[in-house]
Amino acid sequence: MKILAIESSCDETACAVVEDGRKIISSVVATQIEEHKLYGGVVPEIASRRHCENIVGVCREALEQAGMSLEECDGVAVTYAPGLIGALLVGVNFAKGLALAAKKPLIPVHHIKGHIAANYIAHPELEPPYICLVASGGHSHIIKVNSYTEFQTIGRTLDDAAGEAFDKAARSMGFPYPGGVHIDRAAKMGDHTRYKLPVPKTENPYDFSFSGLKTSVINLVHNAEQKGEEINVNDLAASFQHTVCEILTSRFIKAAEENGYKTAALAGGVAANSGLREMLEKKAAEKGMTLYIPPVSLCGDNAAMIGSQGYYEFLAGNTAGSELNAVASLRL
Ligand code: KG4
Ligand code: ZN
Repeated sequence: MKILAIESSCDETACAVVEDGRKIISSVVATQIEEHKLYGGVVPEIASRRHCENIVGVCREALEQAGMSLEECDGVAVTYAPGLIGALLVGVNFAKGLALAAKKPLIPVHHIKGHIAANYIAHPELEPPYICLVASGGHSHIIKVNSYTEFQTIGRTLDDAAGEAFDKAARSMGFPYPGGVHIDRAAKMGDHTRYKLPVPKTENPYDFSFSGLKTSVINLVHNAEQKGEEINVNDLAASFQHTVCEILTSRFIKAAEENGYKTAALAGGVAANSGLREMLEKKAAEKGMTLYIPPVSLCGDNAAMIGSQGYYEFLAGNTAGSELNAVASLRL
């Protein structure tokens, strides 16, 4: 089964053709980062407008690269939640139009489920059940993946998501949006023991909280500026990254162990972080767990992951009619 998938929940307009949930036939991503960079973050209205302008060309290119016509696709999958409402609406309405015109099933996909499914493309042997850590710009979750379409969140961030903390901390260090990748690069040249940063406590041991840590980095930079002191950006980036990775890793491994999982996966934009990949791989190996991580190219927003999850949603009978609406926030 070949699914045409569309993703427009944030600042990437993406379209892909995916076969049987596991094989990418084509995948096109048009990023708007350069434009949002000017404002230090995503401007929702600009995002919607760019999706509107780009979506036809991006989908045409995905079909062209696949050497297929719309009629040859067996279904149209689309991210309908969560995300920026105006951005989601562009993808949802475009997908509705395609499905209606080509008389194909319309398959709504939850963005976070899509991030998790990126692992199915990269790892043919991976099957539920397993436990997954999702760390992205908008979410930090520990999720029990009971089946391809049944999920249970057992830990979540109480305030900022990991990616959001990366981006805000990066901004205070003078890096452009999105700063996660810049911190990753700088951290490689820094000493992570140089700056002591706070590790938050949470009532639920699987929950996260990153806002205090983010604020302490911002205050540290601010205070240094006021006193005319120099901050070693590489050391601060390394200290911040190490602290975030330790929080994510220790809570995720604890959740995996206490819930009896031997198979674990990582997903979301922050899964691209080299420090997190390394730390989790090391800890999982020590505990005898098999850990799956998508390639960096599938960690950030893309439509291939939506096509993968869309296949399993279709098999479970989760299709929609033309009444489908976009939803800005929706729990798994
Ligand atoms: O999953 P994603 O593309 O979008 C959302 O669904 O939110 O995640 C984007 C987030 C951004 O905060 C970005 O800074 C972060 O992922 N990110 C990274 C790295 N690459 C992307 N954070 C840390 N290290 C990276 N290498
Ligand atoms: Zn995402």
